[in-house]
Amino acid sequence: MTTGIARLLADAGALPQGWENAFATVHRADFLPARFWAWHSDSGYTPAIDRNATGEHGRQAWDRAADEDLALVTQWDDGDHSGADPGNNPTSSASAPAAVARMLDALDIRGGESVLEVGTGTGYTAALLAVRGCRVTTIEVDPEVAEQARKNLAQAGHADVTVITGDGALGHPDRGPYDRVHVTAGVRHTPRAWIEQTRPGGLVVMPWGTYYAAADWTTVLTVHDPRRASGRFTDPLAFMKLRDQRATWPRTSFPDQWIDSARESTPDIDVADITGTLYDPVEFVIGLHVPDCVPRRLEDDESVNLWLYGRDVGAGDSIAVAAFGDGYTPQALQAGPRDLWSEVQTAYRRWSDAGKPDVGRFGLTVTITGDDVDQIPWFERPENRLKRQ
Ligand SMILES: C[S@@+](CC[C@H](N)C(=O)[O-])C[C@H]1O[C@@H](n2cnc3c(N)ncnc32)[C@H](O)[C@@H]1O
Repeated sequence: MTTGIARLLADAGALPQGWENAFATVHRADFLPARFWAWHSDSGYTPAIDRNATGEHGRQAWDRAADEDLALVTQWDDGDHSGADPGNNPTSSASAPAAVARMLDALDIRGGESVLEVGTGTGYTAALLAVRGCRVTTIEVDPEVAEQARKNLAQAGHADVTVITGDGALGHPDRGPYDRVHVTAGVRHTPRAWIEQTRPGGLVVMPWGTYYAAADWTTVLTVHDPRRASGRFTDPLAFMKLRDQRATWPRTSFPDQWIDSARESTPDIDVADITGTLYDPVEFVIGLHVPDCVPRRLEDDESVNLWLYGRDVGAGDSIAVAAFGDGYTPQALQAGPRDLWSEVQTAYRRWSDAGKPDVGRFGLTVTITGDDVDQIPWFERPENRLKRQ
């Protein structure tokens, strides 16, 4: 007896070596609530599917979706949501099986490893790790989600998995050190605990990215010692972010006090050069060069305005807007301590002049010095640090 997901992954050539038995025996359906929302990332279509309902989105659709390569949203708005309509922000899910498989493959499990999973969600991934022979500790920040995952795991015969309710950014030293840290929520700042609680030679696998891009890249860090870990970006994926690392956009206009002092320039690239679809590398790569900057693109029939907001700059906020439209010369205005538009333009030029190298040629080093955790992106090798603005 094999699960639909094992067949799906095998047919797509996406069933990683060594994981055949785990995917064949763990049923995703055992980890799903009666109602979830199937996330069609290409169209944004997110219908509620209810096992107890009749009709198009009832029992048969539920059975089908459980074995499809779709992320299934199981919580909206940190639980502050009710009813069948989707909420504003998806905050817990059973991740899409192909993404789960790719990340587990990156974990390089040989058998018997002690694994800390961050972001328990439904418990499905934790069950796969347990069947693979790992000693699994999994942390979930949301108490209700954690409690449900505990029940799901126990009912599916995985009572040996330890589910901790708490902030995964703190790790769980009581059961460490770990051979692997497996993170199933998007990361913007790598918490020091993951490096400190991993044995030298162990791996931290996480969806990592910057505030500039919505998508993450699977990032595989080798922990060299309790102060340093380094590794490459492997492939793109989109995960809901760690609860306190979500991008926020605090402004919707140019602050009054800066209008007079704003610096004006004419962009020498087009907005189309620097925006792409979710998995287009351009925004990810710009974010490697332009730290702590959140973009927002506002568009109507005649124009596109790209707003850039700087966060955590210490000396105060920076803001910029570049406006593009048919029939007029593009214009950029920037104010505050940073020239955010110039930073973005320079970052794009650098990448473009280098022939737009693949993201897989870039990587990240995380270094802990005193209270500081530095994340330094690099190109080709760790010594070749990216020039950040
Ligand atoms: C994409 S889901 C995880 C999917 C899950 N691994 C599975 O197999 O179903 C991400 C989860 O991370 C949790 N999360 C977000 N921030 C967290 C944090 N700081 N610590 C622990 N869990 C967190 C969310 O509540 C959510 O349940």
